[in-house]
Amino acid sequence: LENGLARTPPMGWMHWERFRCITDCEKYPDECISEQLFKRHANLLVSEGYASAGYEYVIIDDCWLEKDRDNKTNKLVPHLERFPNGLNSLADHIHGKGLKFGLYQDFGTNTCAGYPGVIDHMALDAETFANWDVDYVKLDGCYANISDMAAGYPEFGRLLNRTGRPMVYSCSWPAYQEEEGQVPDYESLKEHCNLWRNWNDIDDSLESVMQIIDYFGKNQDRIQPHAGPGHWNDPDMLILGNYGLSYDQSKLQMAIWAVLAAPLIMSNDLAVVRPEIKEILQNRDIIAVDQDPLGIQGRRVLMKKQIEVWRRPITPVTLQREYSYAIAFVSRRADGAPYSITFKLKELGLLNVDGYNVKDLYASDSNLGLFSSDSLFTTRVNPNGVTFYKFTAL
Ligand code: DGJ
Repeated sequence: LENGLARTPPMGWMHWERFRCITDCEKYPDECISEQLFKRHANLLVSEGYASAGYEYVIIDDCWLEKDRDNKTNKLVPHLERFPNGLNSLADHIHGKGLKFGLYQDFGTNTCAGYPGVIDHMALDAETFANWDVDYVKLDGCYANISDMAAGYPEFGRLLNRTGRPMVYSCSWPAYQEEEGQVPDYESLKEHCNLWRNWNDIDDSLESVMQIIDYFGKNQDRIQPHAGPGHWNDPDMLILGNYGLSYDQSKLQMAIWAVLAAPLIMSNDLAVVRPEIKEILQNRDIIAVDQDPLGIQGRRVLMKKQIEVWRRPITPVTLQREYSYAIAFVSRRADGAPYSITFKLKELGLLNVDGYNVKDLYASDSNLGLFSSDSLFTTRVNPNGVTFYKFTAL
């Protein structure tokens, strides 16, 4: 969507994967979906250094509403006990931290958790979002006719645009179509949305992360070409920092999300993210790959001995128009020892005549020196792990 927003994949924090629909604030005061949770995370984004690494949007997902609209005005009502000061006050807090405010709704009659959706009140809700100083809208697709989405999602986008307030527009419409075996119209998505969820929800496990990675690998021919500045594929939230992923698996998600030019939207409790995981989330080199200005999504280019090679063209580009590359080696092996594997650069599609300077994006002593396209390059990958390099074309 050419609305001037999301020129690089959006970065931020969203509650859903970690906090789901916890609404009992008496039992779970630090976890329930309430203004406290979002204020706390806005503060942590800044105090823990995430904001200066680029994380910007604080996004409320499902379960923020009252069960009914206002019976006189039909306006949406944020839950009165959990958001006692209203959303403008929360937006002020978030904006006061130099961050941006995102809010969830649903295209259908109800959100997935059963709260009122936009379908019969689209213009009113778009206006209400603008009046609440929202900067980012996630529009889910539960309780809706899938056949209405191709027209309805663009319509809500136009209504958002008509408010005059710039709002990033995240669409879930293709995920619902894929579920029904329908092929999404990516040309239309590019025109009408800044990002879109392609497929299933992420859960807190390696299995879920690998299923998503496989989905993007298998379907890359029809998905990858559609990403670019202003319009991104969304493989769903970053889950590192929670319960399910080991240290190596956390590196793996971060690396592949960067190769995929994915939105980097964390869903975790920022107060308890361990220092070594925080370091992954704030790795400046990897964030720079994700945010590369060319905006070309990477692809799975090779599979050998259960090691997958994922490659993304990035800047700098040489005068002879050769790209630099970010390359991730993903191990699907679980046979114990780290696995060494050697490639000629040529085999990886790295053909620049003047060669490449190579940097290991996960090592502190990271400069590996100069390699030509005939050089051999060896990497040693941990089981269920990743190695990740930048090949800068000279
Ligand atoms: C389905 C979406 O895909 C999830 O990301 C989340 O928004 C839930 N619905 C909320 O109910």
